[in-house]
Amino acid sequence: MAAPRFHELEIASVRNETPDAVAISFAIPEELEDVFDFLPGQYLTLRADVDGEDMRRSYSICSQLSDRGHRTVGVKRIADGRFSSFAQTLKAGDRIEVMPPQGRFTAKIGGRHDYLLLAAGSGITPCLSIAKSVLSGERDSTVTLLYANRNSASVMFRDDLNDLKDRYTTRFTLVHVMDEEAQDVEIMNGRLDAEKLENLASLGVIDPKSADAIYICGPEPMIRSASAAMAALGVGEDRIRFELFTPAPGSAPKPAPVKEKPDAVPANEATQGAAVEIILDGARRTIRVNAQSDTVLSAAQKAGLDLPWSCAGGMCCTCRCRIVEGRATMDENFSLEPWEIEAGFTLSCQSRPDTEKLVLDFDAQ
Ligand code: FES
Repeated sequence: MAAPRFHELEIASVRNETPDAVAISFAIPEELEDVFDFLPGQYLTLRADVDGEDMRRSYSICSQLSDRGHRTVGVKRIADGRFSSFAQTLKAGDRIEVMPPQGRFTAKIGGRHDYLLLAAGSGITPCLSIAKSVLSGERDSTVTLLYANRNSASVMFRDDLNDLKDRYTTRFTLVHVMDEEAQDVEIMNGRLDAEKLENLASLGVIDPKSADAIYICGPEPMIRSASAAMAALGVGEDRIRFELFTPAPGSAPKPAPVKEKPDAVPANEATQGAAVEIILDGARRTIRVNAQSDTVLSAAQKAGLDLPWSCAGGMCCTCRCRIVEGRATMDENFSLEPWEIEAGFTLSCQSRPDTEKLVLDFDAQ
């Protein structure tokens, strides 16, 4: 299968969700409907030239599985976020490059299940897609959504959530938790941390033990805290899924990370580093990678080779490839499963060659 490629799409509409968040809908031409097929929970990677820099950012799809003709993502402006600020200026009719849906934080629709969704801030976006798709696609399933925000002004997709509440009165439960605005019920006030979740479970507001699947999406500290709380409440790891897009403050990914690697293949003047052969879309090209200063992805960028990537932080898997020959070490890995590493897969945005020759197959699935 070919590596994912960008397609230029027209923006059909932009809706203000909060003072610092918008929902952007892309028109999907009929011939690209299959290419932009998605599972609830997946994301789109957008690409644009922002102040002269080629930037990419991934945003979760909030559309329902049965939606055709458009895909919508939610974009919240983050402090010093150049791309998220740029995205707030987009308008209907603008065209922008979009990569087909990716991601493993997904729900397969079918059967009967009880879902527990824990979302904070813009982490609501994939959870909304899952909730809408489950409620419309699984006739008898239930969804409980715990949604944490600072205050009611920062609640994204309020209309969609109210619509779900009205439409699925017995199968959808929505609980808002706010830490800067007092609500009538005391337990709904404060941060969505482990203690809060344990309290909500003891009061029967949520029932993690009987949930078939628990989806957690929000900032990294909230994900870690909620995952630990679920484990403490006896929920097996196999029922917990989480989406990590943004690492904790201070460890934001760089497009071309540089890291000292003392035991790396030496880059002398003759070799300029390890020979890395790239197989992409059936074609082969060899680049030199100095493992002391570059990952495979950053070296490829310098060589003008357009490899697939999105987060450049080891989180999204867009840059996944298989090691066909040689060895490499990853700086970080937040997304590959143990079986994938066992099978030889690696993340090119994190990989530095350990051998003089390395062959990476980006077409391998
Ligand atoms: S680009 Fe996201 S993991 Fe490598």
